[in-house]
Amino acid sequence: MEVIEAVNDLRKIIKEYKKQGETIGFVPTMGFLHNGHLSLMNRAKQETSIVVASIFVNPTQFGPNEDFESYPRDMERDKRLCEENGVDILFIPTVEEMYPDGYSTFVEVAGDLTRQLCGRTRPGHFRGVTTIVAKLFHMTTPDSAYFGKKDAQQVIVIEKMVRDLNMDITIVPCPIIREADGLAMSSRNAYLSPEDRKNARILSRSLFDAIAKIQEGERDPVMTKRLLTEKINSVNQAQIDYVEVVNGKTLQSIPRIEGDVLIALAVKFGKTRLIDNVDVSV
Ligand code: PAJ
Repeated sequence: MEVIEAVNDLRKIIKEYKKQGETIGFVPTMGFLHNGHLSLMNRAKQETSIVVASIFVNPTQFGPNEDFESYPRDMERDKRLCEENGVDILFIPTVEEMYPDGYSTFVEVAGDLTRQLCGRTRPGHFRGVTTIVAKLFHMTTPDSAYFGKKDAQQVIVIEKMVRDLNMDITIVPCPIIREADGLAMSSRNAYLSPEDRKNARILSRSLFDAIAKIQEGERDPVMTKRLLTEKINSVNQAQIDYVEVVNGKTLQSIPRIEGDVLIALAVKFGKTRLIDNVDVSV
């Protein structure tokens, strides 16, 4: 595995591989890797001949009172995991490399897609995500890029950016990887106290209960939201940021549960904000 910090070095090596007819699969991450990240790398390895992963904690997608400084980092462990999971090139730029002094260009998917759900309480977050992902796409020029459905809104926003800007990249959404007790894997789970870690099981449990109710015939999004809200609120420490039942493509609210539906939530345990979702097709 090659570990690269400079954009120019990355471009050079990728050009060489492309000349030889290799296909490039790209997995962008912020590191502190877990099985969710590794599943993307393994999928990329199955579908493309050269896997590029990046680790970069992107300051522009964090709000002023968010956890940029304290975001968990462990580069030595991450390098080892990348190597063990088929990554050929690991790109680990510095903040100065990605945002040199005077940097002033941003990519923004405007409108409701970025205003709903996480966009409501994290203004500017998706602008930071699309900016860094667009930059990384230009540097890596992948054939395919792999994203987890854990961040369902992020996938939809990136797919829209790729369409709108005519980027010649296939976006591959990948399933959510969960802990044995259902909690969606996340680098931020490391922040949870043992008690909050137990309480956090309510997120996936309430989502799975909602699916069961829908399978039994429930079609009312308001009832479904109420059921989820009551369950989560029954855990004292859980503070709901949002619980939404929306159209799985447009993220707009829906009068009835039918077609592609996304049930998404964000809940805080103390300072730790966790997200989870399920997609339902009825
Ligand atoms: P990060 O949170 O590190 O996640 C990197 C990728 O791993 C994303 O596509 C995310 O959806 C996926 N992922 C995280 N947890 C997962 C899980 N439990 N199952 C499956 N996939 C999972 O998302 C980001 O970084 C950043 O916003 C980034 C796209 C790198 C831009 O900075």
